[in-house]
Amino acid sequence: MIASSLPHDPRILVIGAGGRLGSVLADYFGKRYRVTALGRSQLNLSDPGSIAAVLDGMDFTHVFLTAAMTAVDRCETHEKEAFAVNGTAPGIIAEISAAKGAHVTHIGTDMVFDGMKGAPYSETDSPNPISVYGASKLEGERRVLAASPANLVARVSWLFGPGRPAFPDWIIQQARGREDVTLPADKSGNPTYTMDLADWLDALVFRTPAAPAAGIYHLCNSGHCAWRDWGQLCIETALGCGVPLLARDIRGVPLDSVAAFVARRPRDSSLSTGKFTRTTGILPRPWQEAVREFVMQISMQSS
Ligand SMILES: NC(=O)c1ccc[n+]([C@@H]2O[C@H](COP(=O)([O-])OP(=O)(O)OC[C@H]3O[C@@H](n4cnc5c(N)ncnc54)[C@H](OP(=O)(O)O)[C@@H]3O)[C@@H](O)[C@H]2O)c1
Repeated sequence: MIASSLPHDPRILVIGAGGRLGSVLADYFGKRYRVTALGRSQLNLSDPGSIAAVLDGMDFTHVFLTAAMTAVDRCETHEKEAFAVNGTAPGIIAEISAAKGAHVTHIGTDMVFDGMKGAPYSETDSPNPISVYGASKLEGERRVLAASPANLVARVSWLFGPGRPAFPDWIIQQARGREDVTLPADKSGNPTYTMDLADWLDALVFRTPAAPAAGIYHLCNSGHCAWRDWGQLCIETALGCGVPLLARDIRGVPLDSVAAFVARRPRDSSLSTGKFTRTTGILPRPWQEAVREFVMQISMQSS
């Protein structure tokens, strides 16, 4: 049982409200607390110098920073913009928040790791990004914690959920259209349901005895898998719901054979969530359960 340490009237600012995770957090927290949600048209992070003009006059006690330049390959060819949005801007937001006494939760990524460990990464493992995206996100998390060690960096991986389409929506679409669908079988990670993530963040920031949590935490559904196996479960679940698909078995291919990738990707950036469970008492449910639940929902909506 988690003790409540909820402050009297948390006033939450969600930055990145048009995105996959930001829209879910704005909705989830909006049912519980007072929320202001900012999208790119209200706050553009590619011009970090413009951030203070927007945030200085605002009243908030907690920030959830989900906005980021997430197109991994575009980051590789637009390095300056990637570091402005993912590196410099989070630091400025955290400095403004610290001056107001507000806590910041910054969403980080498994791609700060090189994927060579051969076992799930814990928070004490040293990052070693192998892409501009990973390096720029690492810069962002370092600046957020430098602005205040009381801030939280929540590293997540392979997000899916309602709102902006993600991998399950895409792979089902592919399987509807052709028989031969391929995915890397030698790249592993943790599928993570944004609806579960919203509850875990709520626990860390508002519901633990020591809330709001500080430092780095890894958050994802339990277990890890090859990218191909994640796709296969999406396909099998959709087929089980009667969705007419041409592809029934996803063919595994080597990561190196995907010609469209510009940036290097870590082979196995699986995360360990032991620290989160020790802090909150919550054991994230297995990724398979969360994926099945979500794919059943979208399959029923589409039939
Ligand atoms: N998706 C994953 O699998 C994954 C994995 C690991 C970590 N993460 C991290 O999780 C967080 C949320 O990811 P997500 O999947 O929700 O990403 P997303 O759907 O791509 O959303 C990112 C949001 O950031 C906004 N944004 C991009 N550039 C901006 C700029 N210059 N100024 C202001 N806003 C800008 C986007 O605006 P528009 O709506 O206008 O595009 C979008 O609303 C990110 O920090 C990401 O690095 C994601």
